[in-house]
Amino acid sequence: MTATLENPQTEMGAIPSFQVTMRVERFDPESGSGSYWQEFTLTMHGTDRVLDALHQIKWDLDGSLAFRRSCAHGVCGSDAMRINGRNRLACKTLLKDLDLDKPVVVEPIKGLPVKKDLIVDMEPFFASYREVMPFLVTTGNQPSRERLQSVEQRAVFDDTTKCILCAACTTSCPVFWSDGQYFGPAAIVNAHRFIFDSRDEGAQQRLQILNDKEGVWRCRTTFNCTEACPRGIEITKAIAEVKRAIVTRSF
Ligand code: SF4
Ligand code: FES
Repeated sequence: MTATLENPQTEMGAIPSFQVTMRVERFDPESGSGSYWQEFTLTMHGTDRVLDALHQIKWDLDGSLAFRRSCAHGVCGSDAMRINGRNRLACKTLLKDLDLDKPVVVEPIKGLPVKKDLIVDMEPFFASYREVMPFLVTTGNQPSRERLQSVEQRAVFDDTTKCILCAACTTSCPVFWSDGQYFGPAAIVNAHRFIFDSRDEGAQQRLQILNDKEGVWRCRTTFNCTEACPRGIEITKAIAEVKRAIVTRSF
């Protein structure tokens, strides 16, 4: 008997499809006019994400639509955007989980200058990130073997190592919207990752940087950042730990 490969789609039934209206905020810096809304009606499937809908628009309907993405799997952090009023990664947001009786509203993240359509200028965000020295600081001679750390020491900052620098947290923060000078949650998360690393010797310097008037004390504990984080990092807790370290450690 000859074995034949079954078409899994036929065997299990076709993936359900549905109509979705995408309402996308557009902005062309060369047009000389402001932003405007544009709607696209698409046929999508139950396994599709907002990123797939944006791809379909760009590839089949309007090649001028601009947005960032790279990995398409929640790793690179390049496709944070406001979807139905909430900061999310387009590649991790399934269309079927949204209310499809209404248009799916897609806008750029807030608080950073828009360059084109859904692309914002990330430079102010990365400037704050660089300021907190997001790298291991050590003194003395290079050790002849790896720097050892216990499981317990590693666990203290495990959560904040998960950051993918998507900016969903910082651009959901009302303090950042009203004062773009504020370091913002992502920079504090990345400072936390090194401040609590037992191998690092730059904690005092970082704490001094974050003790600035634009540092941790601007946080109003609104929890927007924690809710927005696609990596589930307990950002508000990390900020509280940095605040406590500033108060309890001597400079
Ligand atoms: S803490 Fe979370 S939301 Fe903020 S930049 Fe990192 S991954 Fe994105
Ligand atoms: S495209 Fe990389 S995180 Fe979404």
